[in-house]
Amino acid sequence: MKAIILCAGKGTRLRPLTFTSAKQLIPVANKPVILYSIEKIKEAGINEIGMIVNTENIQAFQETLGDGSNFGAKLSYIIQADPKGLAHAVSTAKDFLDGEPFLMYLGDNLIQENLVTFVKDFEKEKLNASILLTPVDDPSRFGVAVVNGNTISRVVEKPQNPPSNLAIIGVYIFDSSIFDGIANIKPSWRGEYEITDAIQYLIEHNYKVQGHIIYGWWKDTGRPEDLLEANRRILENVKHSKKMGVINGGTKIEGHIVIEEGVEIVNSVIRGPVSIDQNSTIINSYIGPYTSIGKNVIIENAEVENSILLENAVVRNVGVRIDASIIGKNANVSSIDKKPKVHNFIIGDYSSIKLG
Ligand code: G1P
Repeated sequence: MKAIILCAGKGTRLRPLTFTSAKQLIPVANKPVILYSIEKIKEAGINEIGMIVNTENIQAFQETLGDGSNFGAKLSYIIQADPKGLAHAVSTAKDFLDGEPFLMYLGDNLIQENLVTFVKDFEKEKLNASILLTPVDDPSRFGVAVVNGNTISRVVEKPQNPPSNLAIIGVYIFDSSIFDGIANIKPSWRGEYEITDAIQYLIEHNYKVQGHIIYGWWKDTGRPEDLLEANRRILENVKHSKKMGVINGGTKIEGHIVIEEGVEIVNSVIRGPVSIDQNSTIINSYIGPYTSIGKNVIIENAEVENSILLENAVVRNVGVRIDASIIGKNANVSSIDKKPKVHNFIIGDYSSIKLG
């Protein structure tokens, strides 16, 4: 079995971060979201993975992931030039898939459950399609499935009146019959070729389509608040501390923390779970729970918690605690130390600032 990971979306809800990075490459707990997906796929015994990217983000993916040999996967890059929907993305991978069954994974999904039984059951029961589902409170935001035992009797994309609470979470297994479905659908109201419609075609034409319900944590990291929640969940699982770098005597460390090489911490309080990546410097500051600090970050005379700071960010002399924030690469937040005391902003397009 092969896998494809869909990464061609524009990530508009994560602007401005997605002006300079693909959303799947944004780090959560100092690791790009996409690497968690690749780990899940590999854990299920699949090594050959097609990354479906677009002409703008392909370079960033190739620079970050290369050919996958660093983490034991064989990656191919497939360009989906037009964003015409998930079913269209699958059809761009037809040559790569070469008639084999495949696992399809929406690249911004984070799931807790492993995919081993999902893959095994598909093979054992000789299914045409198997869809990962989970109960949710707000099904109309998702594709929704109606199940009868394990069999799916209907799927519908973002229904106003959901026929069940089982959401399609974005991990699927198909055999090549899905191409029959894709060839027979029309664009939806949002102008996209929906994979949900192709699945409904399979159901109506008596293919074997089953649901696999999971109850563990999962998150579509499409919005800033989702990234922060994912960050909290992953840091919560840091159960052992790793302390590299130089931690000066005046510093107090509580809870579990990961401090990488080259980090310098001076006269600060670090209250875990916290992850601090290589060569960052923390001086006279408080770093509170659920904070991930990327490489080469400087935090001085400031308080930060429940936040994600990307590489080379600088936070200096900020009088109010920074909370629930994402600070992008090379961004600088500092206070003015001369008169007049003003706010002074140079903010990128689509940025958001809330003053305390
Ligand atoms: C897509 C699918 C939808 C699924 C969702 C999961 O929606 O079309 O069926 O429930 O992913 O995240 P989109 O994110 O494209 O709106």
